Amino acid sequence: MEKTQAFISENKDRFLEELFELLRIPSISADPAYAKDVAATAKIISKKLKEAGCKTVKVHKTAGHPIVYGERIIDPSLPTVLVYGHYDVQPPDPLNLWETPPFEPTIKKTDIHPDGAIFARGSCDDKGQMFMHVKAFEAMVKTKTLPCNVKFMIEGEEEVGSENLGDFCKKNKKLLSCDVILVSDTSIIGNNVPSITTGLRGLSYLEVEVTGPNKDLHSGTYGGGVANPINTLCDMIASLKDKNGKIRIPGFYEDVERVSKKERELMNKAPFSITKYKKNLNVRETSGEKGYTVIEQTSIRPTLDVNGIWGGYIGEGAKTVLPSKAFAKISMRLVPNQEHNKITKLFAKHFKSIAPKSVRVEVRPHHGGQPSVTPTDTPEYKAAEMAMTKTFGKKPIPARAGGSIPIVALFEDVFQVKTVLMGFGLNSDDIHSPNEHYGLFNFYRGIETIPYFYHYYSEMKK
Ligand code: BES
Ligand code: MN
Ligand code: MN
Repeated sequence: MEKTQAFISENKDRFLEELFELLRIPSISADPAYAKDVAATAKIISKKLKEAGCKTVKVHKTAGHPIVYGERIIDPSLPTVLVYGHYDVQPPDPLNLWETPPFEPTIKKTDIHPDGAIFARGSCDDKGQMFMHVKAFEAMVKTKTLPCNVKFMIEGEEEVGSENLGDFCKKNKKLLSCDVILVSDTSIIGNNVPSITTGLRGLSYLEVEVTGPNKDLHSGTYGGGVANPINTLCDMIASLKDKNGKIRIPGFYEDVERVSKKERELMNKAPFSITKYKKNLNVRETSGEKGYTVIEQTSIRPTLDVNGIWGGYIGEGAKTVLPSKAFAKISMRLVPNQEHNKITKLFAKHFKSIAPKSVRVEVRPHHGGQPSVTPTDTPEYKAAEMAMTKTFGKKPIPARAGGSIPIVALFEDVFQVKTVLMGFGLNSDDIHSPNEHYGLFNFYRGIETIPYFYHYYSEMKK
């Protein structure tokens, strides 16, 4: 292991330079205008995997963006780790809020990252974290310390719902057969507070369209007599939650996992400062479901949020208009035992039922995903715990995340294996926001920790 760690420390600058190459390509999966850049990123990753020591590498075409696969099988009788990550990124908008351009990676120091952080879209989510695995693998190959078989599956559609990955997994069960799936696409609580993600929320995402009159009208001539669909949509949205922050869709909470008092107590022991939380976000008060702490509200409780709302005139100046249509994108984060298709149906039924006769309503489902939980009493969890204990000098605590990686639940269904969510980002790294960044400390600590995971996991599986 010393040789591996020495190799890592000798090659730090090169690792960073190579990551920069990836960060410079705008692999925005949501926008078709960037399809070429997405494909180019896939190609570079396949090259990196090959150089790092994969014997076979292939870029698999899909109906959407490609999936990069690579493997190094040293002995079929040894365990196999499958690394999953994504190379696609969120759109950088709003561009004017970036202090340095999103696709020109720049190192800057921050209060939380005194050693410097890499500012670029995808630096933390997930190019930087995914690339730690490629470099840790390279270090093990080059120092001849790789203790097991490795497979990489790096996709380009995570940020748009992983629509083609499920099929790919089902069709390639043999190719992808493995003992554990290892993912770095989540966070730790702090650089001094290591943690391992033990739960992800699910997601139901949909769009609603509310139509009033058959065309835009003069808001003076018709205003008062005809329902304004934007006003109506706002009323409808406002009615979805009561004053205690409970979602009022009938049946919504039916399947919600009841977390034991003991587990709730434990999760609230994690270091968390409500004062700092509010200060960082510049809010005087937090909101949300009464009876739960912010930690609970953002992990074990489901939510409903409007992600975007539009209609009528939104250009410069004022135009007096009574619009024909109003739209909103609405998402619900789900928790264990809630089923996303069921929730989508419940929402649609309820939303139509509360529409007044003055409007027509359409509900269009987008992507969804199942929530997941990972047990802490498995060899893979223990291996991750030992690896982080080794490099952080502190035992990591289990923590559930608020975000979603829908494919994790599907992996468990298709392959019947557990996933380890050993992420190294921070919640304050501004993923999906302007000025996304990833600490140099986190990048290197990740590369150092991964070989220990391989080591302990292989030892335990002997
Ligand atoms: N890496 C994130 C998910 C995440 C972030 C989990 C932080 C835990 C902590 C992932 O790339 C992501 O953004 N997922 C989407 C889901 C998707 C279906 C678009 C999300 O959570 O919004
Ligand atoms: Mn991600
Ligand atoms: Mn993301």
